[in-house]
Amino acid sequence: MDIKISAAPNGSPQPVEAPTSFGNVFCDLMFMQEYTIEAGWHDARIVPYGPIALDPAATVLHYGQEIFEGTKAYRRPDGRINLFRPWENAARFNRSAARMAMPAVDVEDHVQAMSAWVSAVARWVPSEPGTSLYIRPTMIATQAHLGVSASNRYLHYIIGGPVAGFQGRSFGAVGVQISDEHVRAVKGGTGAAKTGGNYAAGLLAAGNARALGYQQVLWLDGVHRRYVEEVGGMNIAFVRGNEIITPALSGSILEGITRDSVLRLAPDLGFPVREEQIDVDELLRNIDAGHITESFGIGTAAVIAPVNRFGYKGVDHHVGDGKPGPVTLALYAALTDIQYGRVPDPYGWTLML
Ligand SMILES: Cc1ncc(COP(=O)(O)O)c(C=O)c1O
Repeated sequence: MDIKISAAPNGSPQPVEAPTSFGNVFCDLMFMQEYTIEAGWHDARIVPYGPIALDPAATVLHYGQEIFEGTKAYRRPDGRINLFRPWENAARFNRSAARMAMPAVDVEDHVQAMSAWVSAVARWVPSEPGTSLYIRPTMIATQAHLGVSASNRYLHYIIGGPVAGFQGRSFGAVGVQISDEHVRAVKGGTGAAKTGGNYAAGLLAAGNARALGYQQVLWLDGVHRRYVEEVGGMNIAFVRGNEIITPALSGSILEGITRDSVLRLAPDLGFPVREEQIDVDELLRNIDAGHITESFGIGTAAVIAPVNRFGYKGVDHHVGDGKPGPVTLALYAALTDIQYGRVPDPYGWTLML
């Protein structure tokens, strides 16, 4: 793919060296390309970051035909930059696109676009511990047409910016409310796709949970309201003995790339893994009895986020002694060591720029 690259405009903001939040600061350049049925993807370019003009009748604004991705670039000790499993993000982007009746972007082209954009904004990749450059590939439906049908034109763009760890730069544990009122997704729906509507549907429950002092919502399955699915924008895992247990992919859970990385890495660290249906009542009994000693969310934004409290039907269930446990800490260290290039990557997960 031929990508035209413009320079950042004069007077663009200086990069933030030590970001303290997530998703509030944006690099001064963005990648864009358009799709039409006749021409396919075309006009790939990197241009100054700024507002995009959309027809008020664009399909994305009315029927939510959009998808996105989330991945990160990490500053290595030698000053170079690692992308983490960008091929998997590009492949998941296409699975989401297929579910939302949108066109695919060739995986190699998409990885080239991410790499070219990160290289163009390299000065924005921070080096403070725990920080990284968050990358947000997005595709929106742009046809001006109010009939309910798939758009015939699309815009694919990549933006992003420097971020701290998900909860600022600390590695504190989070409290999670298990929703018994709302559900996020059902089998046959769009839960396994990264599409905006899934997240919009979760905002009410997330706000209610925050008002009660929890940081995240844990979703149960939409049919039985009984099986654990995932937490906010993360997958979830539990530790029993030295074993890691995580919900099996159900068709309504997003297939996390960090989750997959943990499942492959953990056995090499001496922690066997199990993917299975997890009944919420049994889970909470095992937490209360002290059989489950650790829990953590797994996702790009936080990498590994220790969970120390589950609220369900008005009762709190505390995990372990409230501090991040040894399995959580070992996984966080092993995974981030590979992401930041502090150790060799035996899995072929990183793309060094
Ligand atoms: C709903 C949901 N589940 C899980 C994840 C974790 O996926 P990944 O590890 O690929 O970031 C994310 C974030 O991308 C998400 O939005």
